[in-house]
Amino acid sequence: MQIHSRISELRSALINRGRVVFVPTMGNLHAGHISLMSQARAHGDTVVASIFVNRLQFGPHEDFDNYPRTFQADCDKLAAAGVDVLFAPTEADLYPEAQEYVVEPPAIQHELDGEFRPGHFRGVATVVLKLFNIVQPQAALFGKKDYQQLMVIRNMARQLALPIDILGGATVRAEDGLALSSRNGYLTPEQRSEAPRLYRELNKIRDAIRSGATDLAALERAAIASLSEAGWQTDYVAVRQQSDLSMPKDLTAPMLALAASRLGKTRLIDNIEI
Ligand code: PAF
Repeated sequence: MQIHSRISELRSALINRGRVVFVPTMGNLHAGHISLMSQARAHGDTVVASIFVNRLQFGPHEDFDNYPRTFQADCDKLAAAGVDVLFAPTEADLYPEAQEYVVEPPAIQHELDGEFRPGHFRGVATVVLKLFNIVQPQAALFGKKDYQQLMVIRNMARQLALPIDILGGATVRAEDGLALSSRNGYLTPEQRSEAPRLYRELNKIRDAIRSGATDLAALERAAIASLSEAGWQTDYVAVRQQSDLSMPKDLTAPMLALAASRLGKTRLIDNIEI
């Protein structure tokens, strides 16, 4: 696997490499990321991954400084997964000057996760567009665990006519249902055994809707109450339309139950398709 940190070197390395499929990450890779790398292989000739912890998408009191950085272990995993090229820029490579031109996503950036993480989706969209311009892939893969992020990027690509297929990869879960996430490493052993409750609550919502429940607000409230009883602090539990994450108008259309909740200091997010 080639590793490049400089934009110009990466561009030279990607000349005449056929269809390039790109998987951007912030490192601290787990089986969810590796499954995206395997899917990428099936979609093109050259698989490019990136590792960059993007300061722009973290709020002032979030975990940018403590975000786990495990570069050597990540390189070993990517090489074993058959990734061809890794782009691992430093901050000075990617942001040599203050990033004043940014991508401002529409109203959805202020809802759900955006309500609790102001500026997050602006930071994500900006770095992803910049990475797209550097790598110039024909396709790019993002995990469905960050469903709102996937939607923001898909809409950006469509509205800005980027010639890139945006593909979503299924959430990978531990045996007890917990969605794999780089932040799971923050959990104490007790919190780790409590953590699958989030997925169980989403499953309850899905099962209730499948059995005919129509009062979505009541289902959301019940999930928040049950999490709260178990010591969680919930930002939101919401049932939305899959197509655009708006409030469901037609309960027969594909929906999504999404949640973000804190166990101690660790904020976990998850979602389930209905
Ligand atoms: O999902 C992530 O890891 C990040 O938000 C991304 C897409 C790599 C942008 O920094």
